[in-house]
Amino acid sequence: MAAVADDGEAVELEVEVGGMAAGGGCVARAPDGRVVFVRHAVPGERVRARVTEEASRFLRADAVEVLDASPDRAQPPCPHAGPGRCGGCDWQHVRLEAQRRLKQDLVAAQLRHLAGTDADVRVEEVPGPVDGLAWRSRARFAVDQSGRLGFHLYRSHQVEPVTQCLVASAQVEAVGAERARWPGAKEVEVLALSRGALCRVEMGSGAFPAVDGRHLPGLGCGLVVDGQPVRGTGWVEEQVEGRRFRVTAGSFWQVHVGAPRTLALAVIDGLVPQPGDFVADLYAGVGLMAVLLAGRVGPTGRVLAVERSPRAHRDSVANTAGLPQVRPVLASVTPRFVSADLGHPDLVVLDPARRGAGTATMAALARLRPPPRAVAYLSCYPATFARDVSELLRQGWSLQALRAFDLFPMTEHVEVLGLLVPGPLATGGRALPVEGCAALSFGRGPDRRADPDRRAGLALCRPPVPS
Ligand SMILES: C[S@@+](CC[C@H](N)C(=O)[O-])C[C@H]1O[C@@H](n2cnc3c(N)ncnc32)[C@H](O)[C@@H]1O
Repeated sequence: MAAVADDGEAVELEVEVGGMAAGGGCVARAPDGRVVFVRHAVPGERVRARVTEEASRFLRADAVEVLDASPDRAQPPCPHAGPGRCGGCDWQHVRLEAQRRLKQDLVAAQLRHLAGTDADVRVEEVPGPVDGLAWRSRARFAVDQSGRLGFHLYRSHQVEPVTQCLVASAQVEAVGAERARWPGAKEVEVLALSRGALCRVEMGSGAFPAVDGRHLPGLGCGLVVDGQPVRGTGWVEEQVEGRRFRVTAGSFWQVHVGAPRTLALAVIDGLVPQPGDFVADLYAGVGLMAVLLAGRVGPTGRVLAVERSPRAHRDSVANTAGLPQVRPVLASVTPRFVSADLGHPDLVVLDPARRGAGTATMAALARLRPPPRAVAYLSCYPATFARDVSELLRQGWSLQALRAFDLFPMTEHVEVLGLLVPGPLATGGRALPVEGCAALSFGRGPDRRADPDRRAGLALCRPPVPS
């Protein structure tokens, strides 16, 4: 079966679709037995699917007509969503509660297949906008040949121009970048935090004098062209739990407006750091976790904030000024770094990019003696998370609790937080969702008895932090 029939028409199939596969499409079967990944469908629907791509063992297709609709189907709020349109949001056509159920299934399946473990998981709503829109504090736009901003179509270099992005925050939209023209630019990223906004522009090779930027629109915000600040300081600020964070254009910052506080508190609630503890914050970015952990370990404790990007490291140096217990380190987290340079942390935070920490780094962590009391592993990519968790499980560690956060509504993406401890679990091996873990604890020593929350490990069991 070819994607295009002999008469030049696209091939269409009538299929009943099953569950959602990682990658955003529902799984169906073509008449020749091959798997078809059908985008723009909802599990259980019968659809007419147009084949868009063919490989020897599978097909990709778009649902172009819904013959039997699921109750979980919604009218996409964005006019750019749909077959052959913007490739940014895959799930605009799915009701928000159903999106979260589907993400739960995807995380559970990855853990089952890649880590051989069953885990109860509930995807938690993140404080912020409640309708799944206006959550992005950063938006990265492609630029078409006439300088208009937009997003790539799915698996294509073609750009769908937009004048508004519904998942971008009100602050991002207030910049108005999509309503301006960006001649010669290759990519424009708008970063808008509660204190300031900027546009980071990457110019196409040779089209214009790159760093000058005078031909680019003046939008009343900072402008950084090819890494050089042209207007403003080149960085913006956010406040989290009363602490200010400087974020330079190009440094990592959590994209959902509610994510920095939610994730930092979830990590702290899970690890229950004690005064005097030594915490290793690996993949530290601009120091978000390190700064908030510093308040918990106090002046007698230590936090090592390890980051490999010089730009983000400089931000973390600025953001941790006045916190002598934090040591920002410019280094790559590698197996060798963990074995030779990390020392003996009581607690570890891991928050790598999509590719994960890697099994060799996880194995090096497992070899630390004495072992850390706990590792909190944050990930936006459940497949590499499950692979890395699997390595710790093979080394005798246990997945004590698992949380998941809906940081990326309208897409298949989800953030997970695993809490891992050395040795077997007292409860017999099933990772518990946040409600089920009252008997578990990472705390230690006398403070644990003094503090009722820590005594019962209740930090793990609190409901999501309200905004
Ligand atoms: C997902 S971000 C997490 C940042 C931070 N924890 C936060 O919540 O803001 C991952 C960070 O790890 C950094 N990174 C990627 N690979 C690294 C490595 N091998 N060693 C150290 N840092 C790395 C990236 O530059 C990025 O800042």
